[in-house]
Amino acid sequence: MLRGSKVGLRARHEDDIPVLQAELHDDVVNHARAQSRPWRPITPGSKTAPFAVDDTEEGDVPFSVVELEGGTLIGAATLWGIDDHNRSAHVGLGLLPASRGKGYGTDVVAVLCHYGFVVLGLRRLQIETLSDNAAMLRSAERNGFVREGVLRSSAWVMGEWLDEVLLGLLVHDWKPDPQD
Ligand SMILES: CC(C)(COP(=O)(O)OP(=O)(O)OC[C@H]1O[C@@H](n2cnc3c(N)ncnc32)[C@H](O)[C@@H]1OP(=O)(O)O)[C@@H](O)C(=O)NCCC(=O)NCCS
Repeated sequence: MLRGSKVGLRARHEDDIPVLQAELHDDVVNHARAQSRPWRPITPGSKTAPFAVDDTEEGDVPFSVVELEGGTLIGAATLWGIDDHNRSAHVGLGLLPASRGKGYGTDVVAVLCHYGFVVLGLRRLQIETLSDNAAMLRSAERNGFVREGVLRSSAWVMGEWLDEVLLGLLVHDWKPDPQD
């Protein structure tokens, strides 16, 4: 398990899947805001369910997020689109509604940076998020990510076009502890 100050990132367990599916996937608005594909219902137990893990897929590394104290499941995080040639990857995360706004997201980003830069030896990490997602923007910026651009009207979200912000962090600018 990878450890931050408040969260642990561990492998996906079978009994995490229905919880993540019910609290993240089945919340249609949350799904629409976090994923760039339309929501559709998923049959319980489906092997293609969004939180089911294919351990042979090397380009994406999915984690379940737990509280360090007690081990309660609080969300999911992924380093995805890992590009070994350009040594880059994308950061993605979603916390269960009851676990948001408690500083966990900032800590998850810190742990994913450690995994990407230290464990995998990557050089660049990237985050794309909606321009009104204040908590995601702040979680990223506290870890040193800088805004590199706005993707205008790039996301179709529940009937409207929204802008996304592209943030990047290079390993030589990374400071392991989140900054104020
Ligand atoms: C985005 C998300 C991962 C952030 O994690 P979090 O644990 O809620 O965020 P934190 O508690 O670490 O807060 C980070 C900062 O944002 C601020 N913040 C938190 N919620 C906020 C809100 N609703 N509005 C404005 N600011 C907010 C916090 O005050 C904190 O700022 P600080 O460092 O100055 O104190 C989480 O809210 C989430 O899972 N949201 C739904 C899914 C999602 O949007 N995923 C990202 C898709 S790209």
